[in-house]
Amino acid sequence: MKKIKFIDQVDIQGKKVLLRVDFNVSINSDLTIADDFRIRRSLDTIKYLLKNNNKLILVSHLNRPKKRSPEHSLKPVVKRLDQYLKDYKVKLVDDFTRDTSQIDNQKNNEVLMLENIRFYPQESKDDLKFAKKLASLADVFVNDAFGVSHRTNASIVGVPRFLPSYGGLLLKKEMEMIDKAVKRPKQPVVAIIGGAKISTKINLINKLIDIANYLLIGGGLANTFLCAQGYNIGQSFCEYEKVEMARKILFHAAKTQTAIILPEDVVLGKREVDDGGEIKKIENIKDLDHLSILDIGPETQAKYGSIITKAKTIIWNGPVGYAENPSFKRGTDFIYYSITENQDAISVVGGGDTLATISKEEYLNKITHISTGGGAMLEFIEKGTLPGIEALKQ
Ligand code: 3PG
Repeated sequence: MKKIKFIDQVDIQGKKVLLRVDFNVSINSDLTIADDFRIRRSLDTIKYLLKNNNKLILVSHLNRPKKRSPEHSLKPVVKRLDQYLKDYKVKLVDDFTRDTSQIDNQKNNEVLMLENIRFYPQESKDDLKFAKKLASLADVFVNDAFGVSHRTNASIVGVPRFLPSYGGLLLKKEMEMIDKAVKRPKQPVVAIIGGAKISTKINLINKLIDIANYLLIGGGLANTFLCAQGYNIGQSFCEYEKVEMARKILFHAAKTQTAIILPEDVVLGKREVDDGGEIKKIENIKDLDHLSILDIGPETQAKYGSIITKAKTIIWNGPVGYAENPSFKRGTDFIYYSITENQDAISVVGGGDTLATISKEEYLNKITHISTGGGAMLEFIEKGTLPGIEALKQ
């Protein structure tokens, strides 16, 4: 059977290594880095390969640029990585398709990083010639970019067709930790699913119904479920065309051992108004239907908190309210603290906006695993693998 090998299971020494990382970090308007979590997470792999006298050529994307543009340059990332690698000089390769002299003459104390790989339209098309050109830069390929391994891009699935290819230490950790929470997890398993849209989470929710004992729903997608139950949700965001789908999910869950729990009270308000909002029971929203549901209410917090307290495995994806406005972030903060308070459970947190929402650094190490993946984590939970992982199997 074809198997993936990780860099700590093989001997990679004195080689040129093309290392795919996911340094798709958020960049401020002054082009500084807002949060370098993803960079820090790949440092183990980078240092491991450097310690074994390899020369590294890093590949990453940043955002989704339509064309080459200064605001999507990896320059700030190169600068930050240079600060983390004291004995090395990290340098940007502006365009490897035109000039490979920096790569040909790479010194032992240099780490090179190719400019944003999405500046090349061939990347997202998984162009074979482009992948071959990338592969020609090195002897070995290592994928540590869990967060983008759900994309069939040239630098993810194309390059392994041409080079001996391995998984990095972050990729290994992500796979092991998420597997631990999803395959044969300790019960009870509690999954908290928030975020705006049911349409992007439908497969995840169906999968979690097979895994979890409790599915606690919040965020915009809870509204679609409330609608399916016949509640008046006023001006709240709702995917009305998905109400039927929500009904089917509730029906599917009813036939299993999974309890889907929906908010019983909510905070109503206007998205941009920071006035604390108004707390209402779900059945009383009709009196205030000029407002929108923007957070779970205190009774729901207490209920969700008590379920989280008893969990042995916790999976969390997505804020349970409109967390961009502090008035509606309390529910999400409460979920976060409840998870960190339960030190008996394995907790896996990640996906899209979740990371941006959990601000208090001092609690982060109380979570067993914070995934660097957004869509990748969700797809890995659903399918148990990703195209980028399959491509490494040899
Ligand atoms: C992410 O931020 O989820 C990854 O870096 C993938 O980015 P993408 O959704 O633009 O492919």
